Amino acid sequence: MKDDLTAIILAAGKGTRMKSKRAKVLHRVNGWPILRYVLRATTELALSEFLVVVGDGAQAVRKEFSEWPVEFIEQREQLGTGHAVSQAYGHVSGDFLLIVPGDLPLLTSQVLSRLISHHNEQGADLAVLSMVPAIPAAYGRLKRDASGHPVKIVEERDATDEELDIVEVNSGIYCVRNDEFLWLALRSLDAGNAQGEYYLTDLVEHYHCAGKHVTAIKATDPQQVMGVNSRSELAVADRSMRLRKARELMAGGVTIVDPESTYIELDVVIGSDTVILPGTHLSGGTTVGSNCRLGPETWIDASKVEDDVGIRYSVIESARVRTGTTIGPYSHLRRGADVGPVARIGNFVEVKAARLRRGVKAGHLTYLGDSDVGENVNIGAGTITCNYDGKAKHRTVIKDGAFIGSNTSIVAPVTIGERAIIGAGSTITEDVPSGALALGRARQVNKHKKEEVE
Ligand code: UD1
Ligand code: CA
Repeated sequence: MKDDLTAIILAAGKGTRMKSKRAKVLHRVNGWPILRYVLRATTELALSEFLVVVGDGAQAVRKEFSEWPVEFIEQREQLGTGHAVSQAYGHVSGDFLLIVPGDLPLLTSQVLSRLISHHNEQGADLAVLSMVPAIPAAYGRLKRDASGHPVKIVEERDATDEELDIVEVNSGIYCVRNDEFLWLALRSLDAGNAQGEYYLTDLVEHYHCAGKHVTAIKATDPQQVMGVNSRSELAVADRSMRLRKARELMAGGVTIVDPESTYIELDVVIGSDTVILPGTHLSGGTTVGSNCRLGPETWIDASKVEDDVGIRYSVIESARVRTGTTIGPYSHLRRGADVGPVARIGNFVEVKAARLRRGVKAGHLTYLGDSDVGENVNIGAGTITCNYDGKAKHRTVIKDGAFIGSNTSIVAPVTIGERAIIGAGSTITEDVPSGALALGRARQVNKHKKEEVE
């Protein structure tokens, strides 16, 4: 049945309760925009078509998700969830519609599959996914008749005291037959309610009264269909998502000392026996090998960290850290840094677009940019590659076994040969042959009082 299902994701709403200039679905939960989780869960199902209704902040939403295999439909005025779905008229090719709100960051594809199977088994015209959360909050209440058939959804603001006592609420996810009846029903919605909007939820009563087959199935885990309407709910979702990811990693053999203060995005992969200390942020599809020790207070984005690596108090961006390397405290590996194996990058060292090979040591106060540093090179404290002449970047090559004395400026483009030694305090502007000692500094003069008088 999945091949004749079209998913419609509703992401046009103003998100008034967020009190934000940004579209609600672009607010971030554990690093990702809310809508990314919804698209991920929905597109994991092999459905025939994915439509996303956008409106508030449409341009930014389209831009953020331009790579996704979805079609965007514009809802120019945000007149309610029913109005949002009606914008898809003429765009739907599937026999059935799966309607999903764009503000459910904890959604999983399993939840959606369950509703689809239920809808299928029941041969229903309209199936609603309901839930029984700990607190019904502002969710629409699902009313059933004496025999348990859904008859109506009442929004909290329109509900009577009696209706507010209903514990089963609407998740906002539905499966419905794509037929003439649906589009006519959507067109006939009226906005005579507390919010003056065309409510999609009114379909339930409409279908029920017309004698259509309406069913509802409860989500087993209400958390997975939690909606985010406010900043407080955003924080709740963020925490849940982080803990969910942490639990998954711990089950795979990763030690997370304090999951509450660890921030790991959903697509990060970590090998077993790695220990993550508090204040660690891992994002952008970073992969980490096994037996590493990361943190405390470390940011790693879009990077590859191999096995047996230790990184403390450092920032790593779009870099590769090879096996057995230690980094930090207070190191910054930037785009294109590729370090190790068994290298040592220490205090206040910045590395950019540089390959530092096996056994390189750069322990203190150093900048290595646009460089290729050979095996077992020792970089003394305060070494700077002067890679930029004000117009262009130039490369520094330091060959295997070279020794760079402290406080050396290496003015690129330049090559330092194998096992060459650079005297401390040098400014190197010319190539240094293999094995040579290069001194590029003023000779020390000791002046005695007597000489000064002469
Ligand atoms: C909606 C349901 C409520 C349900 C809850 C579940 C209605 C009337 N109410 O309430 O029964 O319990 O979801 O989370 O449907 N949107 C548009 N265009 C619009 C309005 C909304 O695309 O004109 C989108 C929003 O971006 C959002 C989704 O539809 O992603 C739901 O809208 P929202 O305003 O959050 O509805 P709720 O009040 O949460
Ligand atoms: Ca909502």
